[in-house]
Amino acid sequence: MCGIVGYVGHRPALDVVIAGLRRLEYRGYDSAGVALALPGELWTEKRAGKLANLEAAVADSDPPPATTGIGHTRWATHGGPTDQNAHPHVSSDGAVAIIHNGIIENFAELREELAALGIHLRSETDTEVAAHLVGRELPRCDGDLAEAMRRVCRRLNGAFTLVAVDSARPDVVVGARRNSPLVVGVGEGEAFLASDVAAFIEFTRDAIELGQDQVVEVRRSGVTVTDFDGQPADVRPFTVDWDASAAEKGGYDLFMLKEIAEQPKAVADTLRGRIDRDGRLRLDDVRIPPSELREIDKIVVVACGTAYHAGMVAKYAIEHWTRVPVECELASEFRYRDPIVGPRTLVIAISQSGETMDTLMAMRYAREQGARVLAICNTVGATIPRESDAVLYTYAGPEIAVASTKAFLTQIVAAYLVGLYLAQVRGNKFGDEVRHILDDLAETPAKVDLVLDTVEGVREIARELADSPSVLFIGRHVGYPVALEGALKLKELAYMHAEGFAAGELKHGPIALIEDGMPVVVVVPSPEGRSVLHDKIVSNIQEVRARGARTIVVAEEGDEAVIPYADHIVWVPPCPTLLQPLVATVPLQVFACEMATAKGHDVDQPRNLAKSVTVE
Ligand code: G6P
Repeated sequence: MCGIVGYVGHRPALDVVIAGLRRLEYRGYDSAGVALALPGELWTEKRAGKLANLEAAVADSDPPPATTGIGHTRWATHGGPTDQNAHPHVSSDGAVAIIHNGIIENFAELREELAALGIHLRSETDTEVAAHLVGRELPRCDGDLAEAMRRVCRRLNGAFTLVAVDSARPDVVVGARRNSPLVVGVGEGEAFLASDVAAFIEFTRDAIELGQDQVVEVRRSGVTVTDFDGQPADVRPFTVDWDASAAEKGGYDLFMLKEIAEQPKAVADTLRGRIDRDGRLRLDDVRIPPSELREIDKIVVVACGTAYHAGMVAKYAIEHWTRVPVECELASEFRYRDPIVGPRTLVIAISQSGETMDTLMAMRYAREQGARVLAICNTVGATIPRESDAVLYTYAGPEIAVASTKAFLTQIVAAYLVGLYLAQVRGNKFGDEVRHILDDLAETPAKVDLVLDTVEGVREIARELADSPSVLFIGRHVGYPVALEGALKLKELAYMHAEGFAAGELKHGPIALIEDGMPVVVVVPSPEGRSVLHDKIVSNIQEVRARGARTIVVAEEGDEAVIPYADHIVWVPPCPTLLQPLVATVPLQVFACEMATAKGHDVDQPRNLAKSVTVE
């Protein structure tokens, strides 16, 4: 939540900061602001609403030509999305401007302390407290902004990234982080601070990961990192392999449309390079010795949102292939229920951003209990992979639309690779069996391409049904999490009531919801081998139809059994059941995207949401 950018260098800071905010707007978009630091002058502008409002305000004003600045795009926690509550917040003397991502948990007592000192707070935010504290601390440490920041950070509880500038020394930008994300970009005679690398990849690919509880000073001449006590800290430089154009719309009207279309490549990239010349799976970035993987007696997947649905899909496959019990749990529930995890538990944390606070806290808890943690993540240098025992990156490239699409498919693929790797290491599967499944996986990008070629029909159905008050999704086996994901997409984009159910549960309640004309989307498994699963869902279609539902059936090409009961059919290419989510999810993404478009919603930035949920 919240996007943060800081810049010091030789370019016009305002342009760099606004460009960075544009790339980070998906992190929060209810208000935005900038501050420019010049000798003896601090210039700020902030506005409620989307970044465009700030840009208009800036265009109407006369900003000074600064080369040092900070900017923020907000997802409100403390205080509503107003001009006043937008960041930056400025110290009482007007010299220090601060932006913040996270929650300062002890802000109420700090607020009281400041009030007792006669300091009037102009906003309802927790952030403003930090601005005043740093402003007051600065003269006590000879104007050393980094030291003032360290002293204040030692007093703060909660999760925070803070970035500050000071008009007395406008040659430096100072950042601090605890739990919330912050990365450094290092250019020629310039440096950047940002919530993620997307903000600066246009200018540099050289980046530095920051650790927990660190303070960073960036200047034109270089970067200094210490811990909160001022001791020099180890930093990890890395090179960003994302192309700047990857974070652009590239001719599409929406990031979501572009990301849906990129799925074949994302899946292929995630599979690439992980199979050796003999066709054996090799996961070089798994740093847990095979001997330990052989001892694992339980796997727990923790994740949130769409990543959780990927975990649910993975549970079916990993259990089937490894015979190790797999639990899949919402990260926000996991650590509060005293879960049974120990040294023989493998926790798989799935997160596109690698920064989701609930997932991070769940994996930290698991590690404290002695579990090994393997992260499946799309963002190199993010906190979750950095703190894990092993990492398997998904190569989806930057995902900008708030609703996750290509990340979902690649998360499933990565989790499947983990499952196959475990099956191989533990001897549950022979090499040729693994190879056979890998061959099937290798065919999925082409199959997703075929689905994408035929989604016009899905768009038509979506437009026809756009006024429905409610849509149900049902599926069985791996089709069940696909149904949940289809419903989630519709909720987040079309703001419609949508529910996903296990088709077998229909008769235990949900079927009572069915009214004449209610759309019910049915994810039908492969009929191959006249599977029981398939026959059962064909019965379920008949049951809902008999009660007036309008059925939209997602089925395998040539599955004639569903034709008599389908009001609309969406064909997908034949796939083994376990791989079907990789093709069956795609029409549901298109369905939600088109429905939201038909309703006139902002598809890439749906109301109330943010892509990266960095607060609990
Ligand atoms: C937010 C996003 C979802 C995403 C979820 C988990 O809710 O809007 O699209 O699935 O967070 O994010 P993660 O980065 O951990 O995968």
